[in-house]
Order: sequence, then C-alpha cells, then structure tokens
Amino acid sequence: MKLFDVYPLNDISIVKALGAYVWDDKGEKYVDMYGGHAVISIGHTHPHYVQRLQDQLHKVGFYSNSIKIPLQVELAEKLGSVSGKNDYQLFLCNSGAEANENALKLASFYNGRKKIIAFKKAFHGRTSLAVAVTDNPNIVAPVNQTDNVIFLPFNDEVALEQAFQQHEISSVIIEGIQGVGGINIAADSFLQKIRSLCNEHNAVYIADSVQCGYGRSGQFYAHDHSGVQADIYTMAKGMGNGFPVAGISIAPKIQPKHFMLGTTFGGNHLACAAALAVLEIIEQDDLMTNAKNIGNYLMDELKKLPAIIEVRGRGLMIGIELPEHFKEVKKNLLFKHKIFTGEAKPNVIRLLPALNISKTEANIFLEAIKTELS
Ligand SMILES: Cc1ncc(COP(=O)(O)O)c(C=O)c1O
Repeated sequence: MKLFDVYPLNDISIVKALGAYVWDDKGEKYVDMYGGHAVISIGHTHPHYVQRLQDQLHKVGFYSNSIKIPLQVELAEKLGSVSGKNDYQLFLCNSGAEANENALKLASFYNGRKKIIAFKKAFHGRTSLAVAVTDNPNIVAPVNQTDNVIFLPFNDEVALEQAFQQHEISSVIIEGIQGVGGINIAADSFLQKIRSLCNEHNAVYIADSVQCGYGRSGQFYAHDHSGVQADIYTMAKGMGNGFPVAGISIAPKIQPKHFMLGTTFGGNHLACAAALAVLEIIEQDDLMTNAKNIGNYLMDELKKLPAIIEVRGRGLMIGIELPEHFKEVKKNLLFKHKIFTGEAKPNVIRLLPALNISKTEANIFLEAIKTELS
C-alpha cells in the first residue's frame, strides 16, 4: 500500500529531538523555530513529559468514557487554574477541527440557531462545520457547503454590527491571532465588540485558540489580551506537546446534557497524562513570561531589518512578511541554515517555536535571516 499523497514533503526524516532541536537520519542538527506547527509547547522529549507518559503507560493507557477517569478531573482543575477560568467546564476531544466542530454544535444546541459568523482568511480545520467556517474554497468539498456561514472582513466592526442586525446569529468564531491566514491579530476593540454583540443577542462567542492559545501569545489565550471572556475556548496543538489531545473550555451558562457531545478516544488516560505534564511545565517554568520576553526580543530585532515589509505577532507567534523577491528565504533557512520555520501566503514566514526557547536559539535565527536578507 502507498501513502495517500496529500502533503508536499521536505526530503528530511527526523529521528531524534530534544528541547528546541531536532536531528535527521544523517546526523544533521536543526533549530526548531516551527515547533512542528505550533504543537511543541514545552520542548521536544521534555524529561517530565516523557516520565509522566511512561508511568501512565505502565498503569493504564486507555479505557472508555463509560467509567470515571480521575485524570480528566485533575486536568480540568489544572487547566482552570492555569488559564484563569476556574468556573468553566472542560470537554475533551482529539484535534483542533473536532474541538471547533463541538464548539459550533454546542452553541447551536444552546440557542437553537443556525447562523455562524466567521472571518476572511480564517482557518478552523477540515471536518464538516470546521471547514465550512474556514475561508479557503479549495478545501471545502461540495458536501461541506452551507448557507449557514457568513464571512465578514476581519476587524470590521461596522460589518459585524450589520450582520447581527440582519440575521439571528448562533455563534461567532474567531482566532485571537490568525495563524494560517498570515499572523493577523484580532484587535482588542474588535473582540470587545464581539463580546458585547453576543451578550446583546444571546449569541455564543467562540475563541479558536487551537494555534494562538496555550500560552503562545504570552497570555494563556490570545483572546485574553482584549480583557473580555469568550463563551467557549477551543484548544489543541500545544495542549499535548505532540500527543493528540484537544478540548473546549465552556462557560458556566452553557449547561451539559448526557450524550449531547461524545467521543471514543477523547480524554483517555494517556492524553490526560500528556496534557497535565504540559500544564505543569508551563506553570512551573513560567513559560508564558518566557514566550512574551523572547517574542518581544525577536520582534524588536526583526523590526530593525529594513528588507522586511512587516513583523506581526504576540509572544512566540510571529509573522515576518517579506517582499516577493525573497520567496526562497524559508527554503534557505531550512536547507542552508538548518532552521525549521513555518509559512503563510503570501510570503510570510511564521515562527511558532516551543515556549521555552532561549535567546541562544533566537539569535541563531536572527543571524540566519540577516544573512538571507542582506
Ligand atoms: C486556528 C486553527 N484552528 C483549527 C485548526 C485545526 O486543527 P487540527 O489540524 O488539529 O484539526 C488549526 C490547524 O492548523 C488551526 O490553526
């Protein structure tokens, strides 16, 4: 059998990883400024993470959601305290798309409505509703098309108000910082406007924090910068440091009913152990402060480089927009300088490293990009 060829691949096989570094099968060492697409939050093969997963695997790896799993309760309590949302409720699932799917569905159960507001350049996943609220027609199959989604320009308060006047809105879904869309920050005033319109119309504010959450922006959720609370936060990538685990954090006003949501694998023992290990390290090593400090350092230094059109971001979620003629930079960073970065179109380099990188890795990256842009 062959693999179903959907990913354009770099000809590299990684066989070892530690902290902010990975090694290929030829022994070549790379700096990971991409974090495997914002997934590696506490660094590769962190000893506490490895130990906690190993210990759990020797006890019990999986049993279904038909029994009590005290680790889920422990995780909910830890997430509540680290994210500052102790009164919220946790539903565990397996991927970012599934988290958004459940959030949109829950919102519709809550207020009995169908219409969803999403934004231009948004990415929310590839499953049915998640892809329907994603602004990329190339990945929306005919079966996913629906009239229930209204796409509005990002950060446009007037368009938002008009949409609320014209339709009965069930929910508004928005990334605190658009990732795939090119690192675009939702204005604090825009998120405040979403909050007040959702309050006025009993609509549900869904904060997609799959990429920008889990401490990456320097606050637990990128939406926290605006000072308002969402009704549902969706999270995935950084949550398990590579172990597939996702969740939605749900405001107290939304009440559960048996069987309204469910999953076979979500919240299994191993997933909870991975997620707990991540939160323990984020808290113990104050990684949100580190993300803020190293992120600010990187952005300040990058802004000094005249060739760059714009540097956007918060914490360790950074976009570097380059002129068209620098389109080889990302490839050169990888193959000449041995540095992994992400990308977004058109010509934006995305930095999404582990939250505990140090100035050493930041400086290696800065030297390399300076060479490429000179
Ligand atoms: C903001 C955002 N939401 C949702 C998703 C989908 O997550 P997953 O690939 O785990 O389904 C992604 C993935 O890149 C994302 O960046």
